[in-house]
Amino acid sequence: MKAKIHLIAAARPNFMKIAPLYHALIEEPWAQTELVHTGQHYDANMSDAFFRDLGLPQPDIHLGVGSGTHAEQTAAVMVAYEKVLRESQPDMVVVVGDVNSTIACTLAAAKVTYDAKRLAEPGRPKLPMSRPVIAHLEAGLRSFDRTMPEEVNRLATDVLADLLWTPSPDADENLRREGATEDKIVRVGNIMIDSLEMMRKQIEAEAYFVELGVKPKHYGVVTLHRPSNVDNAENLRALCALLQDVSNKIEIVFPVHPRTRKNLEQAGLYDTLRENRAIHLLEPANYVRFMNLVFNCRFVLTDSGGVQEETTYLGVPCFTMRANTERPITVSQGTNQLCNLDNVKARIDAVLGATTSKRQVPDLWDGKTALRVVASIKEHLCA
Ligand code: UD1
Repeated sequence: MKAKIHLIAAARPNFMKIAPLYHALIEEPWAQTELVHTGQHYDANMSDAFFRDLGLPQPDIHLGVGSGTHAEQTAAVMVAYEKVLRESQPDMVVVVGDVNSTIACTLAAAKVTYDAKRLAEPGRPKLPMSRPVIAHLEAGLRSFDRTMPEEVNRLATDVLADLLWTPSPDADENLRREGATEDKIVRVGNIMIDSLEMMRKQIEAEAYFVELGVKPKHYGVVTLHRPSNVDNAENLRALCALLQDVSNKIEIVFPVHPRTRKNLEQAGLYDTLRENRAIHLLEPANYVRFMNLVFNCRFVLTDSGGVQEETTYLGVPCFTMRANTERPITVSQGTNQLCNLDNVKARIDAVLGATTSKRQVPDLWDGKTALRVVASIKEHLCA
C-alpha cells in the first residue's frame, strides 16, 4: 500500500509551489499523490492557465469554494475539506504559502480524527497522531505585520504543522523563536525557483514582450494587488499618478489582478491609464508569459511576495510597494528594495540611470528543492 499525500493548491501563487513537487512525487513508487484544488482562485487566467503551463493534470478533488470575506472563504474551505479528509484519509497533507486555503486546510487536518481501523490498515504508514501529518512548504516567513491576512495565515499554519519546510535561514530563526522544535524544521530552499528552472526553455522561447511591441530592457513590469495598496481609492490614485510619471521615461507593462481592476474601475482610473500609450494594461498573464516579461524587463514594481524572490534570482531590480517583507533575504542579498510613494520615483530613476545590476542567489535556491522535500516526506512516512 502506498502513502497517500494530498497536495493543496488554491490560489495563483500556490501553483508554482505545488507543480515541481507534484512532478517529483509522481515518480516515487511509494507515494500516491492527490491534487486538491480548493477553488479560491477560479478564473481561467488565475488558475487553469497555470495548471496548463506547469503541466499539472486536472485536480483529483475540486472543492469549488470561490471568493468571499476572509471568514466565509476560510470556513467554506474547512467545511468542504473536512468531508474530503474523512473520505480520502490521506497520510499527509501538504499546504503551501500563506493564502486563506493554507490555514483552512491546516485547521481541518489538525482536527480530523481517523478511526482505529484506518490507522491499523496493513502497509499504511504509522501516523504519530490519529490524523494526517501536516507539512507546510514555505514555512517560517514573517513580515511581523499582523494587519496582513497572510501573516495571520502563516503564524497559525506554522503553529499547527508537524513539518516546517523553510526557504531561508531567517525562516528557521523565526520558527525557533516561536518555539518550534528542531525536529520539525527542515531547510529545503525555494520551490519557486524549481518552477522557474523547470520552465526556463519555454519562458525564453516565449515572445510576449514582442507581441506587446516593447523592447527588451526598455520597459518596467508592474503588479499590484495587496489590499493595502489597491483597496483605498486615494492610494490607488497616487499609484496611478506614479505610473503616469514613470511612463514619461520608460514604457510600463501592467497585468492587472481582478481585485485591482475592480478597484481601478470603481475609482474611474482604469480608462485614464488605458489612454496612456506608454502603459500597457493587460489581463493577468499565465506563468510562462509573465515570467517572459520579467526575464526581459528593466525593473519590476510590485507588492507580490513571489515576484520579490523571482527578481532576486534573476538579478532584476525590484521595487516593492510595501512597508515590510516576509522575505528579507531578497533585500539583504537580492535586488529588492522596500519603497513608498515618497521615495520610489527617485529609486526607479537611479536604476534607469545605472548600467549594471547585482545578482546574488541565496543558498538552496537551486531548482532542487522538490527533491529535498520528497526526501523529507519519505523519511517521515516510510521510516
Ligand atoms: C489572494 C491571497 C494573497 C495572494 C493573492 C494572489 C489570501 C488572504 N490572499 O489574494 O495572499 O497574494 O491571492 O493573487 O488568501 N477574483 C476574481 N477571480 C479569481 C479570484 C479572485 O475575479 O479567480 C476577485 C474576486 O472579486 C475576489 C477578489 O478578486 O473577491 C480577491 O480574491 P481573493 O482570493 O479573496 O484574494 P486575492 O486578492 O486574490
